[in-house]
Amino acid sequence: MSRNMTPTDQSECYLNGTFQALAQCQVSVLDRGFIFGDGVYEVIPVYGRRVFRADEHLARLARSLGAVGIKNPGQASDWLALVRELIARNEPDDQCVYIQVTRGVARRDHAFPQGVEPTVFMMSFPFPHIPEQKRAEGVACITAPDLRWRNGHIKSISLLGNVLARQLSAENDATETILIRDGLLTEASASNVWVVRNGRLAAPLRDHDKLEGIRVGLLQELCGVVGITLEFRPIAEWELRCADEILLTSATKEVLPVTTLDGQAVSQGEPGPVAAALYKAYQEAKIRQSR
Ligand SMILES: Cc1ncc(COP(=O)(O)O)c(C=O)c1O
Repeated sequence: MSRNMTPTDQSECYLNGTFQALAQCQVSVLDRGFIFGDGVYEVIPVYGRRVFRADEHLARLARSLGAVGIKNPGQASDWLALVRELIARNEPDDQCVYIQVTRGVARRDHAFPQGVEPTVFMMSFPFPHIPEQKRAEGVACITAPDLRWRNGHIKSISLLGNVLARQLSAENDATETILIRDGLLTEASASNVWVVRNGRLAAPLRDHDKLEGIRVGLLQELCGVVGITLEFRPIAEWELRCADEILLTSATKEVLPVTTLDGQAVSQGEPGPVAAALYKAYQEAKIRQSR
């Protein structure tokens, strides 16, 4: 078996109390994140060195930790201070901060170990801005059955189901794989999915099957600002296929229009007015709300 290349990334990261170069950063192979995928994570966007929707991201981190019974190693204010220090130690103005907390290092045994401290890891990477042309054209998506576990509301690092789903779209030159369970839209491999029909925006019900993206609450606010009707309700697969618009949202995609689905044009195959209005409102919110 060939050995992994030594990482060369010199960005600064944080591991268990120490800032250091990512290339030098190491954890034990007995870390339960490595052995079991036993941990949770967050991805927080940073614009102009200011954190966007920090409170919401840190509240979701606390919820995810609580849901899997890992002690939260800090208060929101401690986390925010660490996030800010990490941003300051890294180059780009626009970054994404990745936070991962695992149950810690212990002899391999499925049941929770006693007296073990969580492993806390944070890194920053440059914000992967989507090229303007791609935004203007919209993106391709495919659909696939949602075969993941039923606790999608937890932002777990156990992402094999999401990885396999995303790989399907990668192999089909598509940006995302939109997932269907029991005939209903859930979400995509790393995004929430929204449907426009007759001028109304719809999102799937908020439940345990899917992650409530931080953009879900945000778009709800923005719909109020720009005067778009939004409803949370079950969305049948057939509604996706005859949608006027389909939108993806995530920390890195922001609001991204989908213009082909399984090789078929979505409506006229061009981004629609709801995507445009929400993207514009999103850009304004970034300026107003980052801190
Ligand atoms: C499965 C899944 N759903 C939804 C989202 C969107 O969440 P957010 O808006 O917080 O980035 C993500 C983001 O990575 C995700 O992985």
